[in-house]
Parts: sequence; structure tokens; C-alpha cells
Amino acid sequence: MHLAVLLFASALFVATFALDNGVMRTPPMGWLAWERFRCDIDCEHDPKNCISENLFIDMADRLSEDGWRELGYIYVNIDDCWSSMKRDEKGRLQADPKRFPGGIHKLARYMHDRGLKLGLYGDMGTHTCGGYPGTTLDKIEIDAQTFAEWEVDMFKFDGCYSNATEQEKGYPLMSKALNATGRPIGYSCSWPAYQGGLPPQVNYTQLGEICNLWRNYGDIQDSWDSVLNIIDWFFENQDVLIPAAGPGQWNDPDMLIAGDFGLSMEQSRAQMALWAIMAAPLFMSNDLRTVSSGARSILQNKMVISINQDAMGIQGRRILKEKSQIQVFWRPLSNNASALVFFSRRNDMPYHYQTTLSKLNYTTGSYKIYDVFTEKTMVLKDSTSFVVSVNPTGVVMWYVSASAKLNHRQFYKGGRLQGSGYDDENAIPRVFL
Ligand code: GLA
Repeated sequence: MHLAVLLFASALFVATFALDNGVMRTPPMGWLAWERFRCDIDCEHDPKNCISENLFIDMADRLSEDGWRELGYIYVNIDDCWSSMKRDEKGRLQADPKRFPGGIHKLARYMHDRGLKLGLYGDMGTHTCGGYPGTTLDKIEIDAQTFAEWEVDMFKFDGCYSNATEQEKGYPLMSKALNATGRPIGYSCSWPAYQGGLPPQVNYTQLGEICNLWRNYGDIQDSWDSVLNIIDWFFENQDVLIPAAGPGQWNDPDMLIAGDFGLSMEQSRAQMALWAIMAAPLFMSNDLRTVSSGARSILQNKMVISINQDAMGIQGRRILKEKSQIQVFWRPLSNNASALVFFSRRNDMPYHYQTTLSKLNYTTGSYKIYDVFTEKTMVLKDSTSFVVSVNPTGVVMWYVSASAKLNHRQFYKGGRLQGSGYDDENAIPRVFL
């Protein structure tokens, strides 16, 4: 009896203090309109690219027909500039009737019929960043209700035109309001990005309790400079950011821009690799109708995706910044495996970086290595010196299996030699092969 009361009380406690919506146990993946399509509302001159239901239908068709959905890219996310300038007579947000004649609910159904999910955008100030109606504190409940009625699966809550005090109230309030609808809706908070991304202004413990993901930093643009700027900020502040991440709660360095205009193939691989190390949400913002086969094969690389999606959800870190401008990144993965990325900040030519696994903190043993982008495998002892050739602005990325050790139980069972003598953990996961 007492135990039951205690259990019930502690369940209540958890329900009050944790975002308990059960979604996004691994980083969410999908497509997001903003970086590539912005606030293009000129459907008259640009019918294929303007923010309209046709654009989202086209992207949904590509995701479900071109192999993306099976890899985990399931969210189709509308960003700013989707709504009408006016709320309806009941005070509810409504989609622009010209550009979204079917409305948001119909679009959500279209996604669901194809095994996809729909994301929507709002802003907790008076206006969205693009000048559309915002969701001020008094509108939070009605808007959360509306999104649930429309069967929306994810909601990004931006912070333009609001102040710190309003944000402190509004972000937790929206979390509660979304939960209260009973519909699991992934909740993306832009709050930290508006507060400099760091403590003491930002409370990452609280964010993990109320949001599934959060934008910590500025917007990505279609350039390598922008990607580098984001990488530098996230890894310079890794000691603050790493503990904040885990299943259901992710740091969000913003969209993947492979397939756009600003990145070379090397740079696209570098972004993909480092986003996987960071356990970052993988939202592509590109035109899936015309994406090149090179960009597609990077974005669809199964091994890098499965590293990103590792079930432990531990965000990785930069472990070395060499004078040679090679940087090394590491992420612990399930089954005692790990991922390594060698990243070149050089601008001259491929650099031959020489090291050993033991210099990279690996313990004694022999490791199976799978090169994520060349798909080659090899075996390396911790003490063996090796050389990786890293292209300018590019990466070499490895999946490193658990170190092979003799499994004595298996070996000597019944006094006879049995099994392979190696832990199964040392195998390369089937998904990659
Ligand atoms: C802000 C956000 C972007 C995008 C735009 C839309 O800048 O950070 O991701 O949503 O607003 O106007």
C-alpha cells in the first residue's frame, strides 16, 4: 500500500518534471524548408519553389520514393511563412489559403499515409522572425490545441520578438500545453539560441526536461564559412553541451546543407560526419527533386546515419587539435564501439596524419576498423602506427568496433575449445555490410 503510494507519487513527480512524450529517442531526421527555401512566397513567379503545400508534397514524394524514408528521414518540416497574416474568427492560426488551399491537417494526413511525419513552425513573440502572427503567452494553449487537431508531429518554437522574461514563461508553458493535448509532438525550442547558448543564461537541465531538441546557436547559411563557424562554437563549448544531450533531448546545430550550392563534396562529408559525432538532428534543407548523386550518397550513407542514430545517444567530442590543423573527434557507441573523425582544417593538399589508436586513448587490443566513406575495412592493434590521408576541408571517418579480446568463458567451456574465441561485439554491424 505504502509502496504503491510512493510509486504513484514518484510517477507524478516524473510526469511533472520531465518531458515525457516518448519521442525522438534518437536524433530526429527529415527535411526542413528554411535554409533552402526561406520565405519565398512568390508562387506566381516561382510556383515550384515557393512556400506552398506543393513544395511539401513534392518533398514528401521524394522522401518516400527515393529511399530516404527507409533510412530514417521521416519528418517533413514547414518553417516560417506558412500562415495567413490573420488568425481566424475563433482566434486560431490558419494556413495561407492561397498557398495551402488544403490546409495543414490535410498535409499531415498526406505525410501519415506515406509513413512520414509533419513538422510545423511558430514563434513565441508577437511575430515570427518573418513577420507572421506569433504565439504570445495568451495564445499558447489554443495554438497547441490547433496543432494537435491538425495531427502535427513536431513543433519548432522560435523566439523572435519576445524578451527573456517572456521566453522563460513561454517555452515551459508550450511544453506543458503540447503534452496536455495527449498527442506526442516533438518539441524544438529556439530558446537557448536567443540567450547566447551558454550558462548561466541557459539552463540545460531545464531544457532537457521540457524540449526534445533545441537550437543553441545562430542560423546556418549556404556556405562553408557558416558550417565552420557552427562547428567551432559547438566543439569549443562541448563540455557544457555534451551532458545536455541524450535520448529524447538533443543539441541542434541546425540543418544539413549538402545538396545545395555552398559546399564541396569534401565539405558535405565533413558536415555529415561531424553532425553524426554530435548526435545532431539530421534535417536536410535542400531540393530533393534535384539533389546530385554525390550529395545523395553522402546523405544516404548507412554507416554515418547509424553512428548518428546510436541508441546510447551520447554526444561525441573533439579530442585533439593538432598544430598541423588536423582535428580528431570521437564518439562512444553501443557495443563498446566508437566513431573517429579526422578533420583537416588545411587549405593546401591532402595531409598524411600519423598516429596510433593508443595515442587516441584506446586501450590495449586489436580493433576492426570500417572506413565510413570508402567502405574499406582493416584490423589495427592499439600500438600500430597508421597514416590517414585527409583532404583539405574534408574528413576521414571510422567506425571502430570493440577491441577483440579472448572470451575465456566461450573458449574453455566444458574444457574444450569452443566458438570463435572473439566477442561478437568485435564484428562490424550487419547494417553496414
Ligand atoms: C530564425 C530561425 C531560423 C528560421 C527563421 C524563420 O532565424 O533561427 O531557423 O526559422 O527564423 O524566419
